[in-house]
Amino acid sequence: MSTPGERPHGVPAASDSRWHDGTRVVRAGLPDATPGAPYLPGPVFAAPYHVSGDPADSPYTYGRFHNPSWNAYERALEALEGGPCLLFPSGMAATAAVLATMVPPGRKLVMPAESYYTTRVIATQAFPGAWFAAQGIEVVTAPTVGDGLRAALDGAALLWLESPTNPSLDVCDIAALARAAHDAGALVAVDNTTATPLLQQPLALGADFAVVSDTKAMTGHADLVLGHVACRDAAHAETIRTWRTRMGVIAGPMEAWLAHRSLATLDVRLSRQCDTAIAIATMLAAHPKVHGVRYPGLPGDPSYAIASTQMKRFGGVISFVLPDAAAVARFFAASELIYEATSFGGVHTSAERRARWGGDAVPEGFVRLSIGLEDVRDLLNDFERALGAV
Ligand SMILES: Cc1ncc(COP(=O)(O)O)c(C=O)c1O
Repeated sequence: MSTPGERPHGVPAASDSRWHDGTRVVRAGLPDATPGAPYLPGPVFAAPYHVSGDPADSPYTYGRFHNPSWNAYERALEALEGGPCLLFPSGMAATAAVLATMVPPGRKLVMPAESYYTTRVIATQAFPGAWFAAQGIEVVTAPTVGDGLRAALDGAALLWLESPTNPSLDVCDIAALARAAHDAGALVAVDNTTATPLLQQPLALGADFAVVSDTKAMTGHADLVLGHVACRDAAHAETIRTWRTRMGVIAGPMEAWLAHRSLATLDVRLSRQCDTAIAIATMLAAHPKVHGVRYPGLPGDPSYAIASTQMKRFGGVISFVLPDAAAVARFFAASELIYEATSFGGVHTSAERRARWGGDAVPEGFVRLSIGLEDVRDLLNDFERALGAV
């Protein structure tokens, strides 16, 4: 599918299985030590590169086709994901690339009814109007929990999964659904944003694609919008690379470099967030003013049994329900440590009343909480005090 100048570059090195996650994230994608060179060479800003004669002899030709700073981060991602990775300028750009290239005309896309809001919108509204309908593509949604996704697989080209889901934190059995989808002739993509490849490995569980919004925990400092697709199969990676090149959905080199720099602390950040999240979820579950606490790592949570088999740890996102919108407003106003914001996975604890957007089937008092890196004792005290104001 490539045209001249679209050759793949920087095919990432295989993951080194001698090392644990904390070591791999620090070293992932770094070049060999070179005297006088920095550990992570700075971003390369180039639209055209010098190219004399045959472009096939030049490693880089044009900025929309390839960039050394993307390559270095993609090499790092491959070391964590276990398959070739493609960087995109947002999680939605990564999602759209898979949906647009992996469902041929006349076939079916099956996806969770409670997957991330905008993914549902492009699959069930934007694409069907502008694109899927013209190609005779059918979209079937079914709940993450239950047998609906499996039952819809007949004739499907792609099964889209999200686990744990944002914001309901439902979990599905990725390996079992991947087997069923493959038996039905469908490919499987997993939105792994809430978990990241450190906590859950969709490709190892049998999926063909892992899709991640790197805007969240992957980069973790609330200052970048990025996404990536990891592929099991090199031919699929080439198809998605060609989509990226031709559509021009490319990340800036500075963002790629910042993401790579942030990756070194991913294991430290996630470890702290997971430790704090279980303490906060336990406190919330026991609190008389709180109900409907969801955290996949909480024994007794409906997601716990499956999550324990396919996740290493359970992440930093918790959801819970307060009596109504006014109660949530009082809780936020009384908290000194919660930023009210619509993202998760960052170093600052943040939360939002999710129903304010109107896109998710959640109660008015539903709160999605993202645990940051603040001291757990301060967070527990702050939450106790803020709940007192509810
Ligand atoms: C689960 C999930 N997938 C995909 C996305 C889209 O990512 P981005 O905002 O980077 O486009 C988000 C964003 O919140 C998300 O939560």
